[in-house]
Amino acid sequence: MRRELSAACVRVGSVRRIHPYAEDDPDLAACYAYPPEGCLRVNMVASADGAAWLEGRSAGLSSPGDRRVFHVLRGLADVVLAGAATVRTEGYGPSKPREGWHALRAGRPHAPPIAVITRRLDLDLGGPLFTETEPYQRTIVITTRAAPRERREEAAKNAEVLVAGEDLVDLTVAVRLLRDRGLGRILCEGGPRLNAELAAAGLIDELALTVSPLLAGGDAARVLNGVASRTPLALAHVLEEDGVLFIRYVGEEAR
Ligand SMILES: NC(=O)c1ccc[n+]([C@@H]2O[C@H](COP(=O)([O-])OP(=O)(O)OC[C@H]3O[C@@H](n4cnc5c(N)ncnc54)[C@H](OP(=O)(O)O)[C@@H]3O)[C@@H](O)[C@H]2O)c1
Repeated sequence: MRRELSAACVRVGSVRRIHPYAEDDPDLAACYAYPPEGCLRVNMVASADGAAWLEGRSAGLSSPGDRRVFHVLRGLADVVLAGAATVRTEGYGPSKPREGWHALRAGRPHAPPIAVITRRLDLDLGGPLFTETEPYQRTIVITTRAAPRERREEAAKNAEVLVAGEDLVDLTVAVRLLRDRGLGRILCEGGPRLNAELAAAGLIDELALTVSPLLAGGDAARVLNGVASRTPLALAHVLEEDGVLFIRYVGEEAR
């Protein structure tokens, strides 16, 4: 993986000329280190024309480099946040400790819990995400008072169930509840509808975006889909591997 845009880049007029300067794998953990106060980072992969899925899932857009970044980002995070549709479609299980996480997670549990945002609780409550977690990473379900009571009770047998709103989860409250638990390094893995709501609530501090060299066409959503928002971003870095770009944007306020 090469670092394409860095302090070594030069400005030519108003255009930045990119100078590849490192052929070695950069230290991904350093490239994506969270700020000391934590933040909410969204990690997504998209095709070059912006599709967030191929045939309904993200796997067709991914690559070896994307998977390395994906796992490093999980290793850095205190908690992984996801919308229920992503959990259902992508078949989420508990995050598994990976090689190289030991140093990243010193003083923290071996792997981050998954926190699911859901109103309906239409989740496989008998599946691995609920029954195969380690005690330190019990899945967190963030739901509403309007959610079916029996589903909430069923979920509470194996997960921590948090109520953060009446009809819909108030995402500002949800994020506060996670931070109150000491989970300040939040990694949101989508999907697009949850991302759009987070952006509209002003909650996205960073975007880690993998752009795959592929045109997808079709009617797949973009990485944010739904409610409109406007979140100015500043470029922190671009890495490249086999034509795949790994872009880290930070909110302009964080510059
Ligand atoms: N390209 C990528 O990197 C990437 C990453 C992730 C996912 N994906 C793809 O994206 C698709 C899924 O994404 P999506 O945008 O359709 O859905 P999503 O954002 O993953 O999940 C939407 C669901 O989350 C729950 N939800 C969201 N906001 C809520 C709120 N404020 N209150 C209560 N519940 C709320 C609802 O769950 P309930 O229906 O349970 O109430 C809603 O149906 C899949 O095809 C997946 O493969 C791609």
